[in-house]
Amino acid sequence: MVIVIGGQKGGSGKTTIATNIATMCVIENRNILLYDLDPQRTTTLWAYRRDEDQSLPRVDSIQKVLNGQTIQDGEVIVDELRNLQSEYRDIIVDAGGINNEALRAALLLADLAIFPIIPSEFDMWTFETLNNLVANLQSCSRTLNAKVLINRVSTNPATAKKEIEDCDGFLSGFDHLTRFDSFLSERIAVRRASGKGMATVEYKPPDLKAIKEFESVYKEVFNVQ
Ligand SMILES: Nc1ncnc2c1ncn2[C@@H]1O[C@H](COP(=O)(O)OP(=O)(O)OP(=O)(O)O)[C@@H](O)[C@H]1O
Ligand SMILES: [Mg+2]
Repeated sequence: MVIVIGGQKGGSGKTTIATNIATMCVIENRNILLYDLDPQRTTTLWAYRRDEDQSLPRVDSIQKVLNGQTIQDGEVIVDELRNLQSEYRDIIVDAGGINNEALRAALLLADLAIFPIIPSEFDMWTFETLNNLVANLQSCSRTLNAKVLINRVSTNPATAKKEIEDCDGFLSGFDHLTRFDSFLSERIAVRRASGKGMATVEYKPPDLKAIKEFESVYKEVFNVQ
């Protein structure tokens, strides 16, 4: 399965979600690759940090660089992903936060696109562009399923309810986007785990609420109960 995590906004949690799902796959013995398309290289740096801690199971990751630049050429990316599909059961692509050729190329091969957003109207204003992008791609790629994942939701239940309702209101106008039933709240453990090259499920002391949320997202991504 090729899962592309992208969007049109910075800081929505793409790298956090990519690295967490990838690690959870490794823990479940799924043969998985993290493919970093973002010139910021945060996923790659996370993997380097992780490799320093020998107690953590390895998460394979690659980033293709030419003349010091991350490759953004659509044809090269499509070829690369096609080749890698024979080696890995799952490929999780961190596509960065720009609607560019690299994102569109990766989406051509995607089974699932995850568009994380934070509960802010600025993020929700990107739904129109994302919806159009998916509508155009679905005419060439029959498999693409595109879903918004709300991240950094308030831990106050009443505020969280309102944030999710607001998102649903914005989403209702767009036929090609749906929302994950699960969502992720703003949690310190999530940030701290990432900084250590870990996933939230590995962080000690465990944040059980944060772990439960990531487990729900993981189950929804892979349709496991
Ligand atoms: N659920 C969460 N709880 C707390 N902090 C979070 C959560 N999700 C992400 N963050 C933090 O928010 C910041 C942005 O997250 P991240 O780097 O994953 O976003 P991104 O979409 O990959 O950003 P960019 O567009 O710059 O690549 C990071 O500092 C990250 O640790
Ligand atoms: Mg990132």
